[in-house]
Amino acid sequence: MFTKIATRSFSSTSASAYKVAVLGANGGIGQPLSLLLKLNHKVTDLSLYDLKGAPGVAADVSHIPTHSTVRGYNPENLKEALTGADVIVIPAGVPRKPGMTRDDLFNTNASIVRDLAKAAADHAPNAAVCIISNPVNSTVPIVAEVFKSKGTYNPKKLFGVTTLDVLRASRFVAEVANTNPVHEKVTVVGGHSGVTIVPLLSQTNHKSLDAETRDALIHRIQFGGDEVVQAKNGAGSATLSMAQAGARFTGAVLDGLAGENDVVEPSFVDSPLFKDEGVDFFASKVTLGTEGVKKVHSLGELSGHEEELIKTAKETLIKNIQKGVEFVKQNP
Ligand code: NAD
Ligand code: LMR
Repeated sequence: MFTKIATRSFSSTSASAYKVAVLGANGGIGQPLSLLLKLNHKVTDLSLYDLKGAPGVAADVSHIPTHSTVRGYNPENLKEALTGADVIVIPAGVPRKPGMTRDDLFNTNASIVRDLAKAAADHAPNAAVCIISNPVNSTVPIVAEVFKSKGTYNPKKLFGVTTLDVLRASRFVAEVANTNPVHEKVTVVGGHSGVTIVPLLSQTNHKSLDAETRDALIHRIQFGGDEVVQAKNGAGSATLSMAQAGARFTGAVLDGLAGENDVVEPSFVDSPLFKDEGVDFFASKVTLGTEGVKKVHSLGELSGHEEELIKTAKETLIKNIQKGVEFVKQNP
């Protein structure tokens, strides 16, 4: 019997060869995220950095037979880890324990993110920077301020990763509606914490949920992170679903850099949508292109209830953003 063996040719062109650096690669998110990025064929150079342990993660992941080189770096080699990076993904920092808000992480994570942003601005000023470290609503403005202070800020290349809210929205909507989550697309806007997370259910097929079901669903999407924090009972927050979310978002950024069409993901970016009200960063759908953000989408038609949720979100966002900006001013 003749068995046909499928073969797949692989060619690496400059349009699909990218260096991606993960800062915090030995962590709960960093390790599975590194694994998933090793599986992305656009990543040809995977640079894994952490305070300790990254060379071990790199050695492990490097045995997977995809067409990329993996290197692990300790602090003395941060410059090398960053130099030439097209995309930098930052999940470095401490996670929540039960009873904490994301804002409670600020005191520890603000300086971690500030220092990594300084290194990124020095060694990879043109990279797209994707921030996972919480509180995202404040850490993204911190990175912006650091880049501004170094004269290298490019608002098109700074992203707060809010994709986990999008994943959860798909999953939780499908549970309520008894549908396949794979087909549920929900736009989530605002920011990444509690009331700043606003899923636009009126733009889905589920606009006529009764108010009680709708409110419970929105609350679950807004506070989905707490479910994981409580279930892990002191051992951290979402890592595996976050790795999937981070890999999806990084993949979208790479697709954009490679010039693919119609690459759209929500992200917390330097946004024109509510700047006139003092909200300098806001999550909404973004088209990704060769230069990073190609277009920030407007929110589209909203229900009266969503208008209210966004009003509340903006009030908190202004404070969260200001806190990040002030931190860099006081602690340059
Ligand atoms: P973790 O403690 O398991 O891992 C964090 C890693 O960061 C550790 O390996 C640690 O050594 C490293 N690290 C700390 N300081 C560093 C520095 N200066 N340079 C390099 N690496 C450093 O935590 P985790 O569960 O991976 O979570 C990481 C962060 O991601 C937390 O702040 C968490 O709140 C956040 N998070 C965000 C989202 C989101 O949706 N954006 C989702 C989940 C978690
Ligand atoms: C999440 O949404 O799971 C993360 O932001 C982690 C957390 O603290 O909840």
